[in-house]
Order: sequence, then C-alpha cells, then structure tokens
Amino acid sequence: MATTHTIGLGIDIGGSGIKGALVDLVKGELIGERHKILTPQPSTPEAVVEVVGQIIEHFVEGLPADAPIGVTVPGVVQRGVVKFVGNLDESWVEYDADTGIEKAVGRAVHVLNDADAAGVAEARFGAAKGQDGLVLVTTLGTGIGVGMIFNGVLVPNVELGHLEIDGHNAESRAAASAKEREGLSYEEWATQRLQRYYSHVENLLWPDLFVVGGGVSRKSDKFLPLLELRTPIVPAALRNMAGIVGAAAVAAEHAAASAGSTD
Ligand code: BGC
Repeated sequence: MATTHTIGLGIDIGGSGIKGALVDLVKGELIGERHKILTPQPSTPEAVVEVVGQIIEHFVEGLPADAPIGVTVPGVVQRGVVKFVGNLDESWVEYDADTGIEKAVGRAVHVLNDADAAGVAEARFGAAKGQDGLVLVTTLGTGIGVGMIFNGVLVPNVELGHLEIDGHNAESRAAASAKEREGLSYEEWATQRLQRYYSHVENLLWPDLFVVGGGVSRKSDKFLPLLELRTPIVPAALRNMAGIVGAAAVAAEHAAASAGSTD
C-alpha cells in the first residue's frame, strides 16, 4: 500500500545558493529553519551534488528514513535527466540527476524543475489554491521560471522565460537579475520590462491567473500594481520557499505513485 508521508525534505539548487528545509507536507509549510550553502563555482554536477549531500546530512536527524526528498534544478528535467540549464554549469546537460544524486547520497531523490516545484506548491497550498483553469506561476530571479498548472495538474518544463521578445531572450531583460544588473528602479523595471513580458505571455496563453514568486516577490507592492493586464496577477504566498515546499510535495507524490504501482 502507498504510504502517506507527512514530512519531506525539499532542496532548491539555484545559481547562487542551494537551500534546503524540512517540509510539513500536510500544511505545505517549512518545519524549522532553512539551511543554505553557496553554490560552488564552477557549478558542476559533482560539486553541487556534494553540497546537496551536506544539506541532507544537516537534516538527517529530523527526517524519517523513508521520507521523500525532492531536489529542484534551474533547468529542464525529463525523467530525472537534465536536458537544459539556464543558469548553471553546462555540464549538467544530459546528467542523470536522479541516479547521480541517489548514488552520491545513498537515498532516493526526485529531481524536477524549480519553477514546476513552485507552481505545484502555490497550486496546492498558496496563492493559486482552488483556482481552476490555467495558472502560470512565474519566478523572477536570476532567470525567469514558469510553472504551468491546468486544473490543478502540472504541465512540466514550460520554458517561457526564454521567449524571444523584441529580439531578446526575455529573461535577460525582465528577470530580477536584469533589474539589479542595469540598476533599474522598481517603476522602470515594471513599466519597461515586466509589462512587455506579461502582456506578451497573456496574449499567447490566456491564463486565468499569474502568480509571481522569487525573492523579489517580497517587494511585490512596488511593482505589481503598476502592471496593466487583463489577467489577475498576485504575489506568491510561499514567496521563495515555494520551490522547497513543492520539491518535497512532488517527491512525496512520486514516492506514493511508485509504491502504488508495485502493489
Ligand atoms: C531556466 C528555467 C528555470 C528558470 C528559473 C531559466 O533560465 O531555463 O528552467 O526554471 O531559469 O530558475
């Protein structure tokens, strides 16, 4: 019989930091503090997986032996294999992350895209809870991630951060990193960059709701009210914890489904 897990571990691999926390899978909340280690440079799979191992080690005491562990990467993941990375060392491409991490840490893990994890967390526990139709959870950070949820079901690996808009890769102009790099004010960023990006996406996909996550969503009152869109747009309820919570939640579902399939 499939086990219902109540505690999991979520680990979010980013271009600058790798963060993990225990997750209450019933409430969709972190249990205790996050543990963060800077992303090694160069951010090769071997170097990053070693850090993932240290994070698991840090939490191992509070973690039941069979608890699900979810790990997110900022790139496309198909059946555990990384196919594309936005902001991580290129040697991740074609790396079998599920198997590689499992071998290195000695525990089963489930690897998925970071924005997909955030999307699932917001749909189950956050700003998109109860929303039917099409929800796009966008994460504004080093890149732009998009988690697409239709009637509560994730459509994985939607790489809409890389849409070409006005001859540019959209995330190079509209991600939070572009705001920092170019020293744009919130108003400039919202009116000159985010407006163009979100209008373009809503005209292509006609979503019912946009949710905006990433660290910068803490300051959402400085830029979301400036956007003129037909689609409602709200800040992520789980802010940049959504990736961690979603990673653990998806890993738990994956574990339950695999256990069920062998009954
Ligand atoms: C990657 C996506 C990722 C996003 C946010 C993009 O550059 O291509 O896969 O979700 O950054 O990290």
